[in-house]
Amino acid sequence: MNIKQSFLFTIMMNANNRITKIFSIEYPIIQGGMVWCSGWELAAAVSNAGGLGLIGSGSMSPDVLRLHIQKTRQATNKPFGVNVPLLYSHADDNIKVVIEEKVPIVFTSAGNPAKWTKILHDHGIIVAHVVSNLYFARKCEEAGVDVLVAEGVEAGGHNGKEENTTMVLVPLLKKFINLPLVAAGGIASGRAMLAAMCLGAEGVQIGSRFAASIESSAHSNFKQKIIETGDGGTRLALRKISPVRIIRNAYSDRLEEAENQCLPAEKLIELKGKGRSRLGMFEGNTSDGELEIGQVAAFIDQILPVRDIIKEIINEYNSTLEKLYSF
Ligand SMILES: Cc1cc2nc3c(=O)[nH]c(=O)nc-3n(C[C@H](O)[C@H](O)[C@H](O)COP(=O)(O)O)c2cc1C
Repeated sequence: MNIKQSFLFTIMMNANNRITKIFSIEYPIIQGGMVWCSGWELAAAVSNAGGLGLIGSGSMSPDVLRLHIQKTRQATNKPFGVNVPLLYSHADDNIKVVIEEKVPIVFTSAGNPAKWTKILHDHGIIVAHVVSNLYFARKCEEAGVDVLVAEGVEAGGHNGKEENTTMVLVPLLKKFINLPLVAAGGIASGRAMLAAMCLGAEGVQIGSRFAASIESSAHSNFKQKIIETGDGGTRLALRKISPVRIIRNAYSDRLEEAENQCLPAEKLIELKGKGRSRLGMFEGNTSDGELEIGQVAAFIDQILPVRDIIKEIINEYNSTLEKLYSF
């Protein structure tokens, strides 16, 4: 095999790489954990279609999480995982549920990877952690994390303050970190997935595209709003305290005005109030709720079943790779 062939082989969709091997999945496509969107139906659908489905436990109490784990098990016999964002007060209890229910894979995010990695490993659980910069990637390596998710600022939901783009972050981590790398942020097509693999990722984590799927538990108003969101339709709100990429609406305009007036953090937190993301994404209030979505919403124009989304991504990935090869 010459150099060109061996490079192409490593990025071929069906070539076994570290990500497909570690998670025992067919395609290196991970559905990101998403508050209010990724319950058992979405996670099971993604796993059944050959990717890795994740239950998003951020919006679930421990009892609700347990139920979703059990329902996922009934709906698929493929591997699946749970995402635990460590910033929530119920994160510790949710980790205990994950251990009790013997979930094989955990994706932690928004917190210190050192806190749970060893304990999860002691229970035989594979651990991935989501980072937005090199500093935390190094912390992951020190903590013994198995897989690193590099999430750029294009992504929907909470983002890093340093605002690294996926295009910069993935090769940066590839250069300095030896862990298997998954790229996240701005990926919703086969072309973008192939680009991420060229940058050094061995898999991709996709959120926004799956939020607008049939199996997503998001409110239909939110799904419709994703379809309607065009170029420039999202903004990175609360940049100075806790950046989050959301769809522009009346709520985000109020936040933007307050931020432009340089109101103190307490005032911004007060303006956000409690239950804002539930109001928008789960209850469907698209003007006053928080609607987390990535920049890729600009080209999501249909609410599709997961199986079709994955098929479309894989077909486009392979046809683009073939075109590249013919160059
Ligand atoms: C609606 C929504 C909710 C999200 N909630 C979470 C979450 O609970 N935990 C987490 O680690 N990431 C969360 N994310 C980020 C995704 O897991 C994923 O990394 C990101 O969406 C990838 O970028 P993309 O939106 O461009 O596909 C969320 C993203 C979206 C769109």
